[in-house]
Amino acid sequence: MYEALMTEEMKPWRDLLLVHNFAVNEIKTKLQILDEEFRNIHDYNPIEHIRYRVKKPNSITEKLIRLGYEPTIENARKHLSDIAGIRIICSFTTDIYKVFDLLKKQDDINIVQIKDYIENPKANGYKSLHLLVDIPVYLSSGVVPTRIEIQIRTIAMDFWASLEHKIYYKYRNEAPSSITDRLKVCANMISILDERMLEIKNEITSLHDNEDTLDKLVISEVELGKE
Ligand code: GTP
Ligand code: MG
Repeated sequence: MYEALMTEEMKPWRDLLLVHNFAVNEIKTKLQILDEEFRNIHDYNPIEHIRYRVKKPNSITEKLIRLGYEPTIENARKHLSDIAGIRIICSFTTDIYKVFDLLKKQDDINIVQIKDYIENPKANGYKSLHLLVDIPVYLSSGVVPTRIEIQIRTIAMDFWASLEHKIYYKYRNEAPSSITDRLKVCANMISILDERMLEIKNEITSLHDNEDTLDKLVISEVELGKE
């Protein structure tokens, strides 16, 4: 039905969005498998939650114009790396690199760019690990390597980024320093919070590990006693 309503100029846009949707579905499955494996087999899960989005045509053309390009399909393919975007939210900073390692190990994920805004935060205080990856999408016409932007951050970093994003859009890059300065302070507080929470988690884990060892010792003593 929709096919009939579609003009010839609309079809390449439909195809562009479709292939990006397929790419998102591919990576979604990969992440869901890791998520379920971790929940079922391992004691903890590095992934807290995941968000996915494919840009709408108006947002694609808007960005191309903003970057000074003609709003064409060719330019979208050539100049935009974030038509498909995935955000992976983790509890702890160490989980971010754990997820990164798991993605690196997958042969069909080709990592084309890494921007580590955790090691090197942006001047405003923004922190996240950004990856650009190409993943193969198998269509009837052949394989199409498709670009996805992956952002991996902690819950705290995500909290900060969502507020900063709202402020950025409200003031269109001209937020008063009374606000940007306070945001920077909050970014520092969030980094400290992430560190402290990780320390607590590590302490609990090592306590738990010791208890496990103690349990094993007790069991082997009981077993020995039985002999
Ligand atoms: P864009 O053209 O904006 O996509 O940036 P880029 O091509 O230089 O890539 P970069 O990896 O720096 O940023 C990609 C995306 O990360 C952005 O579209 C935002 O979603 C997010 N991001 C980057 N910097 C900031 C920031 O300072 N604050 C917030 N809230 N988000 C940011
Ligand atoms: Mg972007």
